[in-house]
Amino acid sequence: MPEAVAVSQLVKRYRGAAGNSIDDISATLEEGQSVGLLGPNGAGKTTLVKLLCGVTRPTSGTVRVFGGDPFTDASGTKRSLAVVHQSSPMDMMLSVRDNIKIAVAFRGLTWRQARGRVTELVDEFNLGSCMDKVAFTLSGGQQRRVQIVRSLVVAPRLFLLDEPSIGLDPTGRRRLWDHLGRLRAEHGVTLVLTSHNMDEIEQNCSQVIVLKEGRIIRNAPHGDITAEFGGTSAVVTFAEEVGPDELREIAGTHGVALKSLDRIRIEVIGDDLEGFVSTLLKYWAGRAGAIRSIAFSCVSLEEAFIRLTERA
Ligand SMILES: Nc1ncnc2c1ncn2[C@@H]1O[C@H](COP(=O)(O)OP(=O)(O)OP(=O)(O)O)[C@@H](O)[C@H]1O
Ligand SMILES: [Mg+2]
Repeated sequence: MPEAVAVSQLVKRYRGAAGNSIDDISATLEEGQSVGLLGPNGAGKTTLVKLLCGVTRPTSGTVRVFGGDPFTDASGTKRSLAVVHQSSPMDMMLSVRDNIKIAVAFRGLTWRQARGRVTELVDEFNLGSCMDKVAFTLSGGQQRRVQIVRSLVVAPRLFLLDEPSIGLDPTGRRRLWDHLGRLRAEHGVTLVLTSHNMDEIEQNCSQVIVLKEGRIIRNAPHGDITAEFGGTSAVVTFAEEVGPDELREIAGTHGVALKSLDRIRIEVIGDDLEGFVSTLLKYWAGRAGAIRSIAFSCVSLEEAFIRLTERA
């Protein structure tokens, strides 16, 4: 796959700041990838998004988007980009329609050229009744929807979204993710998005970059990160209390760790969970109803993120 984004030895120190907000990071993203940018508050996610879309100049190092420099924009790189910024950059004293018209003009299109697409987007994001309202009278979630529509008046090749689902209701979130899914499937759009909602990242991003204090501490498929921090576990619920010695013996033969969650539930962690569970079932075979349930689950990305950022 060709490269969509390449950053090399990238540093950003804001004027007067004591330290670097982006501190020597290098990474490449392939075209069509969907990348979740994670990190605690202040880690540098928004700064990186601003560097990628060229609104902020790097202190040193390079940013390449489809081979061009988005800050100088000498090769018109910005035309391939769309951004939903974390904080709202629209004109709060203008109507929604005028705000969208400005975005259209910014993209070098006439209203006539863009109207069909805008109508579809307005419909999709349920903004029909808001078009003539002044932006500051909208609710937070409605403002977010306007921003999303503004960013999409032209289909981008690279779409940067800085906490796009903040303030959106469940329907709005679903519409956004459906739209992003279609952009990827039909147009091979590269997505880079930040979110503090790990479920969202887990469901929609194949690759995860974790930032901490301006540095990349992980750049991997999210499955690798969750596997690194515990992999799979099983919770077994018994109908009645079970003697710990019998369980420990079975656990010992399969090399899994056993933890009592309460009187009738145990959690088992280790590589050979299937072996453990199958021995357990054989052991209790004659006692109908003795095991109430067995549930396997993966360590969530949220749990892995907390362990990773607290440790690193
Ligand atoms: N314009 C600015 N001038 C000076 N320092 C800034 C500026 N913008 C951000 N910073 C600093 O840079 C660091 C990274 O900020 P950034 O907004 O990129 O974090 P973030 O990861 O997006 O956090 P959040 O999850 O809260 O959105 C922080 O320490 C912040 O104080
Ligand atoms: Mg931010």
